[in-house]
Amino acid sequence: MTQTMQQVVLASPAKGSPLPENFRVETVPVPVPGDGQVLTRTLWLSLDPLLRFAIDEVRLTGATHIRPGEVMYGGTVSEIVASNHPDYAVGDIVEGRTGWREYAALDPIKADIVRGPLRKVDPALGPVETALGVLGMPGQTAHACAVGIGQVGPDDTVAISAAGGAVGTVAGQIAKIRGARVIGIAGGPAKCAAVKALGFDECVDYKATDFAERLAAAAPKGIDVYIDNTGGAVTLAVLPLLNRGARMPMCGFIAYYGVGMEGPGPDHLPGFYRMIMTKGLKIEGFSGQAVAGGDAVAEMAGWLREGRLRNQETVIEGLATAPAAFCETFRQGNSHIGKVLVHVA
Ligand SMILES: NC(=O)c1ccc[n+]([C@@H]2O[C@H](COP(=O)([O-])OP(=O)(O)OC[C@H]3O[C@@H](n4cnc5c(N)ncnc54)[C@H](OP(=O)(O)O)[C@@H]3O)[C@@H](O)[C@H]2O)c1
Repeated sequence: MTQTMQQVVLASPAKGSPLPENFRVETVPVPVPGDGQVLTRTLWLSLDPLLRFAIDEVRLTGATHIRPGEVMYGGTVSEIVASNHPDYAVGDIVEGRTGWREYAALDPIKADIVRGPLRKVDPALGPVETALGVLGMPGQTAHACAVGIGQVGPDDTVAISAAGGAVGTVAGQIAKIRGARVIGIAGGPAKCAAVKALGFDECVDYKATDFAERLAAAAPKGIDVYIDNTGGAVTLAVLPLLNRGARMPMCGFIAYYGVGMEGPGPDHLPGFYRMIMTKGLKIEGFSGQAVAGGDAVAEMAGWLREGRLRNQETVIEGLATAPAAFCETFRQGNSHIGKVLVHVA
């Protein structure tokens, strides 16, 4: 009897914030690996905001593009359960972009949805799912923000938007390890409490009507490093508080994901450019993994072992829940804290 599995395909492109109806769960036969291929069994699926770019109606510059009917792409940690490739053995744990499906048959070096080879995960570094969170792409991005581009030091006041997210929770803890005063910005009192429990000095609720005043009160000496994960109204409140020569790792802009090229409201760019000029700001966009590299993972694995860095995750059970959980990411003030993972098997 043919063994079957679940997979999630794109049903329709997203307009604005993604909706569960944009996805469809299908039951299909488990694929059979061909020559040079491996069969992976998905253990953990990572839900990342950047996946929103892949499901737009139009192909966005530099983004993977998924068309209706295609399996949703995304990062996973999987186990090799069959191998026709000499470098990969049954039982190996690998990280890669094998997609929203329970099994995938693919060439581990040059696969369809996977960009680049499947990377072997060293279970000695921590629980294997941390390869998608604190010791994976979001953690490396946080390291790039705080250490590489932000160059956070002990005299700095650091502000972080989406502080309760996968990047924000780690970036704030690294900034604390480096001795800075750290202010998180997140939606709602519960999330702010969770952020503070990670050791942040303050967490300001951007949903409060007096958010700008509260933020200014939390940063009496101004802000030296702003790790921007959102853009939008949160960033507009931070900009006036930036000190001269402040560093601004421009990590993400989730407030503008899915709103088209122009963004909402009046065009703030002239004022923004003026502020870059008058305050001599150093603003840098980047790929976190490219900036941080493997040394960052080794450093953070050491901090995890020593208990100086805490691994914060929100785990959702079952592949079929992935569409709703992914859409929840874009609802401001959701209950997600830290890295959002789907436990598949
Ligand atoms: N440059 C890179 O290499 C790189 C790598 C990874 C991620 N990123 C980017 O970094 C950002 C954070 O990623 P992540 O993995 O930490 O995300 P995440 O864990 O999914 O957290 C996202 C959080 O952002 C908040 N949010 C959503 N819409 C918002 C809005 N309009 N305004 C303010 N906050 C909003 C929500 O929390 P609240 O409850 O607080 O609203 C949400 O839970 C994203 O923009 C992502 O694309 C960049």
